[in-house]
Amino acid sequence: MKLALHGGPPVRTRPWPAWPPACPEAHPFLEAVLARHRWSIRGEFTGTPSLHTDFCAQFTRHLGAAGSLLTTTGSAALQLCLEALDIGAEDEVIVPIYTWIATPIAVLNVNATPVFVDVEEATGCIDPVAVERAITPRTRALLCVHLHTSVANLGALRTLADRHGIALIEDCAQAAGAAWDRSSVGTVGTISAFSFNQEKLLCCGEGGAVVSRSTDLLERVERLRSDGARRRRDAAVIGEYEMEDLPGLMGINACPSDFQAAVLLAELPKLAGRSEMREGNAVVLDRALSRIGLRVVETADRTTRRAYCKYVIRRREGDFSGAPTSAICEALTAELGLRFSQTECRPMHLEPLYCPASKRRHRLSQAYLQGLSLEGARFPRAESHYSETIACHHRLLLSEEDDLADVVNAFEKIHLASETLRPPQASSP
Ligand SMILES: Cc1ncc(COP(=O)(O)O)c(C=O)c1O
Repeated sequence: MKLALHGGPPVRTRPWPAWPPACPEAHPFLEAVLARHRWSIRGEFTGTPSLHTDFCAQFTRHLGAAGSLLTTTGSAALQLCLEALDIGAEDEVIVPIYTWIATPIAVLNVNATPVFVDVEEATGCIDPVAVERAITPRTRALLCVHLHTSVANLGALRTLADRHGIALIEDCAQAAGAAWDRSSVGTVGTISAFSFNQEKLLCCGEGGAVVSRSTDLLERVERLRSDGARRRRDAAVIGEYEMEDLPGLMGINACPSDFQAAVLLAELPKLAGRSEMREGNAVVLDRALSRIGLRVVETADRTTRRAYCKYVIRRREGDFSGAPTSAICEALTAELGLRFSQTECRPMHLEPLYCPASKRRHRLSQAYLQGLSLEGARFPRAESHYSETIACHHRLLLSEEDDLADVVNAFEKIHLASETLRPPQASSP
């Protein structure tokens, strides 16, 4: 049958669940922020705690962490994790080559050097064997990313970090709701960052959080995030600021407004139910698509809950008549009316957005820039993951099980007609 991409009838015309979701539960929280005349934790105390404080208390409880702090973005949260650990010039941080650019950019922003390593074949997350080889006397931290749907190998990474006396930072931007060995991701490492941007599993437009089991680190994060100030330890007084200035640690303002906290307070109670639904649907899709030759992406041993920030599956090299993955994604988009792509995360040596020398502040010295160069670098496992990955936003997994049949039908239709997706062969002379 003719593919929708080539003018044939599409497999599906009905809409998919929307994301971000309609969130009527947020209205009373948003109205409360307006009514309290206090739109930020940095505003004067008006008699009731900021929603910011309420959300952090609930998020901390939800994760089973020692504490959490809201930030403007996940990118800011990552940078604050590094600054809280006092990582800076001359330091190295080991980072997976395959991630979103915000991960290594946070390292650059504190003047440290990201040392890139390849990922595991099965999961696409940082490879502990490659990490061990990359450790030097300058290594201060290893920064793992729980990518797409997979939890990184936290057991091996934590052992390595402990053995070498370095910090383990978890980038949980894509993994809210995931758990490893019955602990929420973000509570296994030394310190962790979450993102609440519009695409994420827990979202408020733009936002982030730092989580840690160390109250000392969290105290540093709070001050680094709030222009050096921290929440008063004594009772707040109406008309006075609840944040008190303390000398000795310079920060920036990375505090989000209470409007973000209001949406998050309404969304948090839905996270667990949605995670369960996404995981159930992903298992159904994985099973059906592996029957037609696609490869399921795995997660670390002892993962007790996967979080599906994207639905990802790998095509096999040469399958689909050797059609490029981008053409398969385009064909799926046309059949289903939902965007499929090769994911926004790319290996950094193939990522045009990763260009440290484009900013003067990263041109610290010739030696520093040379240390950042990825020219000619090869990371074979990340390259094959990226080139074989077919990804779709997680709203796909909020559908009913019946809707998933459309996805399987679209893959099957494209598989059968894949000859028509092959780029035209150059004619012989
Ligand atoms: C792995 C990863 N790290 C960090 C970030 C940065 O989060 P934010 O967009 O909230 O700054 C993202 C966001 O897409 C991400 O996917």
